[in-house]
Amino acid sequence: MYVCICKNVTEKDIKRAVRNGACSISCLQSKLGVATGCGECRAVANEILENSVSRNGTFQLAQATA
Ligand code: FES
Repeated sequence: MYVCICKNVTEKDIKRAVRNGACSISCLQSKLGVATGCGECRAVANEILENSVSRNGTFQLAQATA
């Protein structure tokens, strides 16, 4: 499913980026370009990010080292 039409970013792309270490919307923006156009996708991208991060434990690790 496309999340970001402006930059052709899919849900799968976001999940892959999280598996590869992305743990913030700004990281996704720099890696994928998501939410750097019109911004309409930002809320959905952030929701996918949060769900993916908490599922694989990266978020807890990021919080612990922050
Ligand atoms: S739909 Fe993602 S920036 Fe426009």
